[in-house]
Amino acid sequence: MSPPRKETPPVHVLVLGGPNLNTLGSREPAIYGTVTLEEIEAGLAPVAAELGIKLEWYQSNHEGALIDRLQKRVDWAHGALLNAGALTHYGYALVDAVRAFGKPVVEVHLSNVHARESWRRRSVLAGACAGGVYGFGPDAYRVALLALARLLAP
Ligand code: DQA
Repeated sequence: MSPPRKETPPVHVLVLGGPNLNTLGSREPAIYGTVTLEEIEAGLAPVAAELGIKLEWYQSNHEGALIDRLQKRVDWAHGALLNAGALTHYGYALVDAVRAFGKPVVEVHLSNVHARESWRRRSVLAGACAGGVYGFGPDAYRVALLALARLLAP
């Protein structure tokens, strides 16, 4: 008789969204498109399932709430995707929280932040993140999840 198959435990990934991402779908559609955050979430679910990843989504317009979530889920999460919205460009407390989190975090942006206003070219988060994906709309989340899955693979 063959031994019972060991189930691989799922990898846990937090997907954090910062200020104004709750308005995706109607917010500046020429820049961000018309896909809502809920639709991005639904589109990423089968990708995550295929990779054996369990996702937990959280969006807040408040930096402290994002920090609270990172702190609260540090023992659960193996890594995170982070689209911090405009906090990307000045959120030093969030940078500290990402560093303290201590797991790989991938920075995500829907838009090409380097092709917009000059203040968007600077990410204070980038140095605390494993890497970043920007400019591919909702596909940025897929690419980021694939990259994170590779990093987290045993
Ligand atoms: C964004 C880019 C940020 O500069 C902006 O403040 C956002 C969205 C993006 O996904 O393209 O809120 O993070």
